[in-house]
Amino acid sequence: MERFSTFALISGLFFFFFGTFWQAVAPSLSLRNIPVKSIEELADNVLPEFYKLADDYPVEFKRYFGEPSKASFAEALNVGKAQYIAEACWHCHSQYIRPVSNEELRFGKVSYPSEYANVMQLPQLLGTRRVGPDLIREAGRHSNDWHVAHFKNPPNVVPDSVMPSYAWFFDKNGRPNKKGLAIVAYMQWLGSWAQEPVYQLDARK
Ligand code: HEC
Repeated sequence: MERFSTFALISGLFFFFFGTFWQAVAPSLSLRNIPVKSIEELADNVLPEFYKLADDYPVEFKRYFGEPSKASFAEALNVGKAQYIAEACWHCHSQYIRPVSNEELRFGKVSYPSEYANVMQLPQLLGTRRVGPDLIREAGRHSNDWHVAHFKNPPNVVPDSVMPSYAWFFDKNGRPNKKGLAIVAYMQWLGSWAQEPVYQLDARK
């Protein structure tokens, strides 16, 4: 009996260390040299939606971001991501199109590793819950105005929505404030790198 428990202990320890090595140490050894894109590299390509935001909300844009430029775009992306984390958007939305349930038809190409090798995924925002749609291909699916109306009160544009409204993304005149402009810029950036058309098969329409 004693010999059996010794054997169980030794094999238990062996598999514990083997599992730790195989699932944690080995992957990190092979992945740690992948270059991680900085925010400056990401903001190199200032998106048309960001210029449009400056046109749509000239006073607010000027006040919070100045002119649309690589620097102000980088700042908006940073603030937008910080809001996404702070407001726990990740609690209801994922940023990872999985190769199951025909997700490709709904959201576009299955997510691929290079989309995540950047500072906007530190910490990673893959998410696990699907209360709302996946957002990794959100860019261009809706206009800036749609996003503004949606954040102000989701049922404005999607009557049966259960998404909460984000009144604090707006000033007292109902115009988007810094957080509001930044979260829209961030939504329009997510997936802007994808070359393939995103099919808009939407059960609601
Ligand atoms: C309680 C869950 C919940 C939370 C929290 C939440 N959402 Fe949503 N979201 C939804 C649901 C459900 C939908 C689908 C209905 C709709 O469009 O409003 C949605 C839709 C969206 C859409 C439209 C997607 C599309 O392609 O049509 C965007 C963009 C979005 N959410 C962004 C956000 C952001 C950013 C936050 C955080 C500030 C957030 N959501 C927080 C549940 C949530």
